[in-house]
Amino acid sequence: MRGAPRSCAVAVGVASALALLLHLWAPSAPPPVDLTGHAPFVLAPPPGAGPARAYPHVTFRLRRDVIGLLPGNSCSCSADPEPLFGQSRVSDVSSSLGANERLRREREYREYRLRVQSPADRLLIAPANSPLEYPVQGVEVRPLQTVLVPGLSLQAAPRESYEVSLSASMGTLTVAAAVDGVTLRGEGQSQFSISSPSLDHLNRQLQFVTYTSTVYHPSTADIVQFRTQGHEASFTIRIRHPPAPRLYGDSDGDGGYNISALVTVATKTFLRYEKLRALISSIRRFYPTVTVVVADDSPRPEPLHGAHIEHYLMPFGKGWFAGRNLAVSQVTTKYVLWVDDDFIFTPRTRLEKLVDVLEKTSLDLVGGAVRELSGFTTSYRQRLRLLSGGSSGDCLRSQPGFHHRLLGFPSCVVTDGVVNFFMARTDKVREVGFDPRLRRVAHLEFFLDALGLLHVGSCEDVVVDHASKLSLPWRRSERERLYLHYRYPRDNSRGLRYRILYYKNRLQCMAGN
Ligand SMILES: *[C@@H]1O[C@H](CO)[C@@H](O)[C@H](O)[C@H]1NC(C)=O
Repeated sequence: MRGAPRSCAVAVGVASALALLLHLWAPSAPPPVDLTGHAPFVLAPPPGAGPARAYPHVTFRLRRDVIGLLPGNSCSCSADPEPLFGQSRVSDVSSSLGANERLRREREYREYRLRVQSPADRLLIAPANSPLEYPVQGVEVRPLQTVLVPGLSLQAAPRESYEVSLSASMGTLTVAAAVDGVTLRGEGQSQFSISSPSLDHLNRQLQFVTYTSTVYHPSTADIVQFRTQGHEASFTIRIRHPPAPRLYGDSDGDGGYNISALVTVATKTFLRYEKLRALISSIRRFYPTVTVVVADDSPRPEPLHGAHIEHYLMPFGKGWFAGRNLAVSQVTTKYVLWVDDDFIFTPRTRLEKLVDVLEKTSLDLVGGAVRELSGFTTSYRQRLRLLSGGSSGDCLRSQPGFHHRLLGFPSCVVTDGVVNFFMARTDKVREVGFDPRLRRVAHLEFFLDALGLLHVGSCEDVVVDHASKLSLPWRRSERERLYLHYRYPRDNSRGLRYRILYYKNRLQCMAGN
């Protein structure tokens, strides 16, 4: 018995030595790839997109109402003359930054664009009246693997012989079956052609064409040229590892949702332990076993007692978004519920409803409503609109409201930003993250970072109570004064916020109410 592990270890040793040798010997090691900011696809000009034809004898009139809707190269933030609610605010986030800053930002932006663009984003125009049939989109292969290319054929008038050719830049082409009466050239190479005196034989052969990815890239695309005499077409083959699905195996709709298995409550606290304890005991009244994650950057942390509580201590004053990041990073359930430390659960805080919306729709994050001590309930729905502003940066307009009502959920809508009480897919929130540089007052920044990543909704019939009210300055306790001192500092935090919006979000200004 004792010999078994040893022989096993020897076998492993031999195997890894062999693997290493094979690795070093690899006879047809592919050539090195240049990934220094210029992916191979950047070099070739876009196929099929020649200059637009001009028709000088045809007159036209521009329609300014429609032209104004198209993305432009300049934008501005003007105050809404008649805001629905509150006051219209305009902030110029570029005012304190000079021309050098702008050049630096544009350089970084160009590098970013080079890094993220894919040939699949490129404009492809199909020339008129082609006898070539081909897949316009939807062909996908994993890096360094092989697929059949479906939908290739030639529909040509009778002639003596027929020939088509295919060429790729990030892979090779061949056929998975041999067809009689067909001549192949360049099999297994990036330029491949098929010819035959019989159109049927050629088309049969085309049904067996395969593409093999040969340049490793986790997510890109190859543009394949497909040609015959006098005609040319291009189509894309997407090369990527499909995104990992990240499944949990925990949801169960039939007998009602098991909230403890599906949801973790996350919060961030600073000094306000009485509030936090009241929150936790209100949660326990309705959800006795749900896990509560607390991120705490207080100067002298106090212990929290009770089961299913995870209390994470942070260095003093790390701040609001750093705490949100830490709390969310520790969540192991499919969903995370964000609450402020001064909220109180009531019978109207029905987490099942939020889970149901997330389970049954494509939404990634859904907010509820917060009832203030005054009795006023707010769901703080915000629509965000970014306008392109060329090299000056984009303009952000935020407005209260929503885009659509949510079918099947009469009290829910689709929007871009919600209140500090929301449930979300844990993985999706981590993808966005909370910028830890935002230490104090910040809210919309998260939803701005989430644009294009999160599908956001809001349901007004799931309500949490807000336990804090504005206290009069002379009635404040020492601790309250300390809290407000850190929460709303009179320092340069606005300058930092603007700088983050200027660089990270490439904004020039914001307007909103
Ligand atoms: C709900 O989930 C928790 C945590 O996973 C588990 O301990 C509990 O047994 C589950 N309850 C039911 C009724 O399945």
